[in-house]
Amino acid sequence: MQEVRIYNSIVHMFGTTLNVYAYIVDGMLIDSGPHRLQDGIVDFCLHYRPDKIVHTHFHEDHTGNTAYLINKLQVPAYIHPDSLDLCRHKGDIPFYRLAFWGNRRGFKAEPLPDVIENEHSRFEVIHTPGHTTDHVVFLDREQGRLFSGDLFLHPKTRVVRRRENIPLLMKSLRKLLQEQFDTVYCAHGGEIKQGYRSLEQKLSHLEELQDQVRSLSQRGQDIKAIVKRIFPQTPTIAYFSLGEFSSYNLVRSLIEDNDTEGI
Ligand SMILES: [Fe+2]
Repeated sequence: MQEVRIYNSIVHMFGTTLNVYAYIVDGMLIDSGPHRLQDGIVDFCLHYRPDKIVHTHFHEDHTGNTAYLINKLQVPAYIHPDSLDLCRHKGDIPFYRLAFWGNRRGFKAEPLPDVIENEHSRFEVIHTPGHTTDHVVFLDREQGRLFSGDLFLHPKTRVVRRRENIPLLMKSLRKLLQEQFDTVYCAHGGEIKQGYRSLEQKLSHLEELQDQVRSLSQRGQDIKAIVKRIFPQTPTIAYFSLGEFSSYNLVRSLIEDNDTEGI
């Protein structure tokens, strides 16, 4: 079995910390990390020499070094077809995210195929929208391992981005749980040995939360009141992201209850 090479670093800012992971398996770099970690990621890549770069989604902490690496390593990059145009240009990114991650230089990528054949491995590319519309995961069915990008992140979701669609993310989790796998490699949580179980826990937590939100909404409570009741403490990230990350977004998305793509 091809060993998974793991890059990990921690970004500190605004009194909070965030782990970042990038992975190389069988010559495939999965996400290029934020620009702010360029030196470490470039060293990692110069050591293990990937022959391609694949992306789970377009966010700048997953694509921040792709332009540089394409040029430096002379390798192709792939991303979901929805993001090909967007990634050709420099990121249009709010200030707090620029300060946290750095920007993304534009790059030219190819559309991800349905299956990636490496020298010794084969990965299914599974579309898992919700966090973003272009989000995919990479599944090695033979070895039972899954590279999950930002699909998992945490078993108990408390804050989400403004544009995340949580019912759609739940649908993606249900689709993925039809598959068999053990280890999950998360872009911010690292290697999770009981990954299948963790994804199940995340889904059941969101289902419980959805029931709770629906029942409070049916009793006439508005979004703000529901947030106050379920999440009485505001997480730090909600303040410095000026509402981009919040429990309000999570509750609103659950109330909207729209699990169709393309919104
Ligand atoms: Fe993301």
